[in-house]
Amino acid sequence: MTEEDFILKNPKNTNLEKGSFTWQSPSNIALVKYWGKSDPQIPRNASISFTLNNCHTITTLEYLKKRTPSSEYSIQVIFEGKANEDFKPKIIHFFKRVEKYIPFITEFDFVIKTENSFPHSSGIASSASGMSALALCFMHMEKELNPQISDHYFKQKASFLARLGSGSAARSVEGPLVVWGEHNKISESSNLYGIKFPYKVHKNFTNYQDAILLVDKGEKQVSSTVGHQLMIDHPFAKQRFIQANENINKLSNILQNGDLNAFVNLVESEALTLHAMMMTSNPYFILIKPNTLKIIEKIWEYRKNTVSNICFTLDAGANVHVLFPEKEKEKVNAFITNNLIAFCQNNQYICDDVGFGAMNLE
Ligand code: DP6
Repeated sequence: MTEEDFILKNPKNTNLEKGSFTWQSPSNIALVKYWGKSDPQIPRNASISFTLNNCHTITTLEYLKKRTPSSEYSIQVIFEGKANEDFKPKIIHFFKRVEKYIPFITEFDFVIKTENSFPHSSGIASSASGMSALALCFMHMEKELNPQISDHYFKQKASFLARLGSGSAARSVEGPLVVWGEHNKISESSNLYGIKFPYKVHKNFTNYQDAILLVDKGEKQVSSTVGHQLMIDHPFAKQRFIQANENINKLSNILQNGDLNAFVNLVESEALTLHAMMMTSNPYFILIKPNTLKIIEKIWEYRKNTVSNICFTLDAGANVHVLFPEKEKEKVNAFITNNLIAFCQNNQYICDDVGFGAMNLE
């Protein structure tokens, strides 16, 4: 598929006037990280993530045909029941990027109502779940205009549009494992959209658990978008992109052969490499906090003293994702409650597990 294949041409139904669609879309946690991109939202290396189950965004898109045609966007955003201006610049930016592919967006007045299952100021990024939920609503509208599109095209284009809102959102349409970015060992992989991991996954990774420890709920000092830009002149960028693509290859084998030791090693190394890239950018920055490190040390200590396969990963923030196989759930949950939540803000953490992707709520 090329970008041209995603341009909506000659819609069959020209009578669309008014209506609404609601989609629930999950967050995801990358195992091999996307950090560094070129225009327009093309990743410098392939990435792979677990789709989450409980952390999601629900978005309703209401549309009404404009009485007077204009090329201006007409958008109202309601976040958790209240008019919200803060999200508008990102949404307008998204509209500009996707207009070429869904040109009908200038013909309607839109009200976008959105809410997250996780607390707003939890430090959990909502751009992946938020942008994919919105992209799915627009695809539902496209299907209304062009009912013959296949389910496969629907999901592929939803991921394509979501990527233009936020790169990691390309991985939030399906589950349980999604690859985004062209890779020579992952068939059908693309820089333009995410695909379901195409090989059979070992049972060790079924229903994998993710406990998200909320270490710091404050606004990040450096956004992901700025972090990505700092990879452009980064002294280690070239090597990092090679390493990430090698890690995709290794992880693909691990996911198929069930080697939990190798999984732990690769996933933790990816998390620390991501933060090493931040610390070695210019300007340099640090997003982890003292309690992030305390939790990491406790996890390493626990692993040394038990036969556990618990490990951690990090996204672009201080929170820690604690990953472990389902069969260790009871023991690890006890360990988290007794030893880790003391390092979380207000003792807060979210229990999640791997999920299967977005859902239409109508
Ligand atoms: C560290 O997808 O948030 O979570 O494309 O600029 O919106 P934009 O960036 P974003 O970057 C995510 C970075 C990451 C790693 C990952 O999810 O792969």
